[in-house]
Amino acid sequence: MKVVVTDYIEPNLDWEMDQFGQMGVDFACYQMKHACAAELVQAAADADVLIVNMAKMTQEVMEGLTRTKLIIRHGVGYDNIDVAAATRMGIVVSYMPDYCMHEVAEQAVMLILACQRKLLVQSHLAAESSRQGKWVFDPVYPVHSLKGKTLGIIGCGRIGSIVHTMVQGFHLNRILVCDPYLSDKRRQALPDDPIPLDTLLAESDIVTIHTPLGPETYHLLDQPQFARMKPTAILVNTSRGGVVNLEALDRALREGQLMGAGIDVYEEEPPNAAMPLLHNPKAICTPHLGWLSEESSWNIREKIVEDVRRFLQNEGPRYPINKEIQIQFGRA
Ligand SMILES: NC(=O)c1ccc[n+]([C@@H]2O[C@H](COP(=O)([O-])OP(=O)(O)OC[C@H]3O[C@@H](n4cnc5c(N)ncnc54)[C@H](O)[C@@H]3O)[C@@H](O)[C@H]2O)c1
Repeated sequence: MKVVVTDYIEPNLDWEMDQFGQMGVDFACYQMKHACAAELVQAAADADVLIVNMAKMTQEVMEGLTRTKLIIRHGVGYDNIDVAAATRMGIVVSYMPDYCMHEVAEQAVMLILACQRKLLVQSHLAAESSRQGKWVFDPVYPVHSLKGKTLGIIGCGRIGSIVHTMVQGFHLNRILVCDPYLSDKRRQALPDDPIPLDTLLAESDIVTIHTPLGPETYHLLDQPQFARMKPTAILVNTSRGGVVNLEALDRALREGQLMGAGIDVYEEEPPNAAMPLLHNPKAICTPHLGWLSEESSWNIREKIVEDVRRFLQNEGPRYPINKEIQIQFGRA
């Protein structure tokens, strides 16, 4: 029985090696985030279980995996994994949807506050005022209070619903939700019914996005959507880069269609240094760190090892994506 890691974000995987060693499981790890299909297939040739962070698990890779029974995605989104191809090959794909939910919600709330209060401009003005020996405030105007404003949440699943709870103390006027697929349980927990996207965009002062990335949500926010928003509005995206057209967002900010944006995720990661939004003074860009905390980093490591342990005991993973596959887990 062998576990192979295609790519990882931890400083090292010594702890995993020790854990798998105690289970009698062989282990190999690579840093193949940008590897081509042939390289990934070669690395995974004798893997029963593959652990994948950002490596692209395409149909070509899946078709080369003759031994693998389980792919564990190290993370919440799984848009880098062709799950349909895995299903055709009889490979179960699992993921870790219940880790870092509070961290991402904290990142979204941080970006909401930082954009609304123009944190980067304030920081610059502190240094500039010291340099000039007098307070320099002009560049920061206008700053709008959060109190009495309307927050729009697009996608109110695990993370969106935590944001909904976190902002309760901000004395907002309304919290609007757009989520056409909201589960009955979450819907019942909300004070108001979800509304259409166009209405949410027109009525919100702050919009925060928490949908998955898929064909339906690719560029869900693009030029026509920005045109519907208030010129004083803030847009925050901590979901997936492809959900927002960042070129159109940059233009909308420069043309005054929106007041500010807080962005944690990008279509290309890391974004090209020439990407205009990185140099837009109305944007606060963070390096896809919504997931980060010491606590969440250990939490996901433990959960992944738990899925491997379950595999050895002929149990399915905690969160399978392609549940339709019934296979015999465990040692051959
Ligand atoms: N920035 C980070 O570091 C980081 C970390 C973890 C997760 N994420 C991302 O955060 C996002 C949300 O994660 P989650 O765990 O809350 O997911 P979730 O599946 O629990 O919730 C997503 C919600 O979006 C809704 N939705 C789907 N399509 C929609 C649409 N077209 N319009 C409006 N709503 C729609 C779903 O009904 C669901 O309620 C994902 O994209 C995930 O990849 C980012």
